[in-house]
Amino acid sequence: MTTMANNSEKKRVLVSGGAGYIGSHVTVELIEAGYDVVVADNMSNCDMTCFEGVKKITGRDDIPFVKIDCCDADSVNKLFSDYRIDAVIHFAAFKAVGESVAEPIKYYRNNLDSFLNILEASKTHGGCNVLFSSSATVYGEAEKLPVTEESPRLPATSPYGNTKQICEDILRDVVSATASLSGSEGPVKGIALRYFNPIGAHPSALIGELPRGVPNNLVPFITQTAIGKRECLSIFGNDYPTEDGTCLRDYIDIVDLAKAHVAAVSRMLDGKMKKDYEIFNIGTGRPVSVYELVTKFEKVNGLKLNYKFAPRRPGDVVAIWADTALANEELGWKAERSVEDTLASAWAWEKHLAEK
Ligand code: UD1
Repeated sequence: MTTMANNSEKKRVLVSGGAGYIGSHVTVELIEAGYDVVVADNMSNCDMTCFEGVKKITGRDDIPFVKIDCCDADSVNKLFSDYRIDAVIHFAAFKAVGESVAEPIKYYRNNLDSFLNILEASKTHGGCNVLFSSSATVYGEAEKLPVTEESPRLPATSPYGNTKQICEDILRDVVSATASLSGSEGPVKGIALRYFNPIGAHPSALIGELPRGVPNNLVPFITQTAIGKRECLSIFGNDYPTEDGTCLRDYIDIVDLAKAHVAAVSRMLDGKMKKDYEIFNIGTGRPVSVYELVTKFEKVNGLKLNYKFAPRRPGDVVAIWADTALANEELGWKAERSVEDTLASAWAWEKHLAEK
């Protein structure tokens, strides 16, 4: 009886794009924090590996999984009719910077349509709390470091980056326009989390990043080189105005990042927001150079990586890291895992994939 009563009071979170890298880690943390979760994914950029891993980690075989494309408004509406949704975490989007430059229409259509459908359903089903996965890319090449949430957003250098800025603005506008709605339509409240560079894998090594084809991002390229899938890592640029000449980034552990989502969702559901639309930086606050990250990876995992210095990659900013004070204070959240532990987890995940 008690269990049933508790179950009926449980809040339910829709995780769109929940079978992917970040979505799967967030699903685990939500379930472990006591939320019900519905995962929606169109499987366009992943397979069931991570969703299966989520079920194993949580010991829950009954997590609802709905295969839909969020660009289809009818499917999104049906989902909101089939389940009472208390909050949405929206990950369903394309994320390859280079591809977005080559195929802007595909990126704008997918990333904007899917979010608009989520927001419309949120409004028309009595209101909802919406968490949008934004990115530090909105700050561009910041003049002042670390960046705070008040730092200016600079013009995006890629359609991908632009979709992050546009979706933030859409969320802000929808929150403001729906604030006084009541009845069958209701207010949308929103939080945008601006991620710095998410890396690593769950300590169980049952879920992690699964890039398709040649990885664009640094850590999957490192682990694939270490395992022998790639011959050599190119470090893009060692003539930047930094101590060792390589770029500086704020690498945030994926489980820490996932916990920030739980903190943000709880803030919304517990009525603790100070404004109806809020933005938080999610990073560690510590810059690490590309070269440092490579040497730390070698040291913590006891191996030698085949790497070379190569020309700068077009579009890269020299340095970016977060001022995390707002997230620390308001969300009561802080990055905890050391970069060494995170790099060890990334390697354990790559080895797990090799054994499959
Ligand atoms: C990019 C996106 C960011 C997104 C993030 C995670 C931009 C400008 N950046 O960040 O929005 O959130 O990916 O998906 O939109 N590097 C190498 N060799 C490699 C790969 C990378 O030296 O093979 C270097 C890069 O030059 C960079 C650093 O490693 O200095 C990190 O690169 P990457 O992992 O691709 O992330 P970002 O470009 O910082």
